[in-house]
Amino acid sequence: MLISLRGLEKSYPQGVARSYVLRRINVDIRPGEFVSIMGPSGAGKSTLLHILGMHDLDWSGEHYFLDTPVHRLKPKERADVHKRHIGFVFQSYHLLDNLTVYENLEVPLTYRDVDRRQRQSLVADVLDRFQIVGKKDLYPSQLSGGQQQLVGVARALIANPQVILADEPTGNLHSAQGKDIMELFRQLNEGGTTIVQVTHSDVNASYGSRVIHLRDGWIVDD
Ligand SMILES: Nc1ncnc2c1ncn2[C@@H]1O[C@H](COP(=O)(O)OP(=O)(O)O)[C@@H](O)[C@H]1O
Ligand SMILES: [Mg+2]
Repeated sequence: MLISLRGLEKSYPQGVARSYVLRRINVDIRPGEFVSIMGPSGAGKSTLLHILGMHDLDWSGEHYFLDTPVHRLKPKERADVHKRHIGFVFQSYHLLDNLTVYENLEVPLTYRDVDRRQRQSLVADVLDRFQIVGKKDLYPSQLSGGQQQLVGVARALIANPQVILADEPTGNLHSAQGKDIMELFRQLNEGGTTIVQVTHSDVNASYGSRVIHLRDGWIVDD
């Protein structure tokens, strides 16, 4: 198994009680799957994806990644697993404001000791593939939401991660751009990349082979 969650729960304090966001979550994802997480707003989709992305360790239960118990790792070890294996597309882009598009795209490569020449060639490829060559020296604040989202997707896949986790990756794109991203995900998935996306779109979900439905923090269908 690539990813296993066992009895995972997340809650926030609410007065003297707790407000639950995820309840008794059990999920297994095999290498090479293409999974969509769907459900109403507030269901816990982003929370679940951030836990899978190892951004959030404040929960109870078990999380295994390639048989490594993530719940027992130290923050530094957990960050290393993330950097080595996972590409994350944030719903709100999360580009680094003080870096140009080019520099943002280089970041995941520097995590993986890719040398300078190879970095240049990978960034050039991705700029070309996403048709954003003309934007490479701009800062995120100089881009539209859709352009930032494209850069966010490009950054997630540039280092060829084993897993791509994407939170509504086409939410701010025109339908043609959105379709391009889904076709790209399909192509990567055919090449063996595991994909887990949060989406509200049945069309986007149809690119995958499995849908996990969340409601009020519970998995109601898988
Ligand atoms: N910091 C927080 N404190 C309290 N509740 C939170 C916090 N962050 C998120 N939540 C709650 O967690 C629930 C799930 O949020 P989220 O995972 O973002 O849902 P989705 O992505 O499905 O729309 C929501 O009800 C939200 O209000
Ligand atoms: Mg969300």
